[in-house]
Amino acid sequence: MKILESAKEMRRWSRDQRRHGRTIGFVPTMGALHEGHASLIRESVAKNDVTVLSIFVNPAQFAPHEDFDTYPRTFETDRAMAAALGAVAIYAPRSDSVYPEGYATYVHVERLSDGLCGGSRPVFFRGISTVVAKLFNVVEPDRAYFGQKDAQQCAIIKRMVRDLEFDIDIIEMPIIREADGLAMSSRNRYLSEGDRQRALNLSRALQHARELLDAGERDAAKVIDAVRSAMQDVPIDYIALVDADDIAPVEKIDRPILIAVAANIGPARLIDNIKYTPVECKAKTVHTTAMQGIQS
Ligand code: PAF
Repeated sequence: MKILESAKEMRRWSRDQRRHGRTIGFVPTMGALHEGHASLIRESVAKNDVTVLSIFVNPAQFAPHEDFDTYPRTFETDRAMAAALGAVAIYAPRSDSVYPEGYATYVHVERLSDGLCGGSRPVFFRGISTVVAKLFNVVEPDRAYFGQKDAQQCAIIKRMVRDLEFDIDIIEMPIIREADGLAMSSRNRYLSEGDRQRALNLSRALQHARELLDAGERDAAKVIDAVRSAMQDVPIDYIALVDADDIAPVEKIDRPILIAVAANIGPARLIDNIKYTPVECKAKTVHTTAMQGIQS
């Protein structure tokens, strides 16, 4: 396993891979790897010649009162796990090389960053889009892998890649859950047994929403109310039902949507979500494609 600590070394390694005609898959992380990260690494290893992951707890995405200092740092375990999964390099830069004295440049994806997690964590997405843009510039991957668990983050990164014309494919992978439905997260280790039981309300509430949607409910306010009732025992930060691509609220569910929830449970702020495409939208897409086939 190659450990690269400077942007210069990382870029040289990537360019060397490319000179040898190899494709590069990239999994950006803050470490404390779990099965969710493992699913991204496995997919990258399967679809690219080489896989590199970054491990960097990014100070720019934490507000002063948040858990930057206590965020789990488990480098040796992460390195062993990444190697066992087939990654060949880790980019682990020092904070003062990513943000040197006098650092002044940030990437802000407008509108998509404002609501949901952006509402209660104002610097969060600016920090993420900035560090991911920097990582993309240094690693220069062909494909980068992100988990749907952070669905708003995925939408923001996709928009940034489109708007800034990065030549990188963004691959969004499904949420990986514990057997009882809890979405995997590096912060789950903060939960006591009691917290954990309450945390299960998030995935149960979303499952209930999916059942309503399957039964034909298309009124966003009614779905949100049902999710709120199912999360009664939980200190809710937000429940949102938005367009899956541009994260704008919708009233009538007539397109692919994201239902996202966040709650503060014990010492942890947990998020979870589902994506849903109404069956009539899928039918419309198939119909349009078929008509185009007839016309051409
Ligand atoms: O999803 C994460 O772990 C982080 O937000 C990311 C993308 C590595 C940026 O710090």
